[in-house]
Amino acid sequence: MRLDKFLCDMGQGTRSQVKDGIRRGYALVDGAVCRRPETQIGEQQVVYKGQIISYTVLEYYLLYKPAGVVSATEDRRERTVLDLIPDKKRKDLFPVGRLDKDTEGLLLITNDGPLAHCLLSPKKHVDKVYFARVEGLVTPAHVELFQGGLDFGEEAPALPARLEILKTDPREGVSEIRLTLREGRFHQVKRMMAAIGCPVTYLKRLSMGALTLDAWMRPGDYRPLTQAEVQRLKGKTEC
Ligand code: URA
Repeated sequence: MRLDKFLCDMGQGTRSQVKDGIRRGYALVDGAVCRRPETQIGEQQVVYKGQIISYTVLEYYLLYKPAGVVSATEDRRERTVLDLIPDKKRKDLFPVGRLDKDTEGLLLITNDGPLAHCLLSPKKHVDKVYFARVEGLVTPAHVELFQGGLDFGEEAPALPARLEILKTDPREGVSEIRLTLREGRFHQVKRMMAAIGCPVTYLKRLSMGALTLDAWMRPGDYRPLTQAEVQRLKGKTEC
């Protein structure tokens, strides 16, 4: 691969910016200044602007998405989840599924298309667990409805879902619930809860398959997945 493409792929700037940087002498290949953007890179060590740059093909980040950012790769007006990962190397990262702008919580960011596809496929039965505060009182009858596959106005009812009542406050007329889904239809949590007369006022995704938010994480925090976590995800989804 050409040196300029190598650096561009690794997020060091646009193709013309890195070409300019290389010509100015910012790149070292195996310790020697290299001013030719077309130099072919194989196993050599590349240093750019004083930093060793290793070539990464696949990247995986666990992000605690804050409310107020959109789950898109780019947006003309809004801040996106990719803007929250300044360390990223690859330019082809995308969020695995969408969380609404006002939803917080776990979001996997990667450029591993087959893994993303598996994690989102209802056939693979990867659990997505949400915490929600809702208006109204959630009852054991609702739990049964969800277990049986709730009709929430779509062509097909929801797959069986586990609804857990964490708290009900009859005085305020509000509840807190945990909901485990195996699919990810458009605004699914909000629409299912609205269908039983309990509109969501706060929503957070707690986990996706074996991935959970770390206790230290606050909205906006992120970290790369460990190799073990990637292997576990792939094992579970057989991707
Ligand atoms: N379900 C929703 O309604 N919103 C989300 O952001 C995620 C799941």
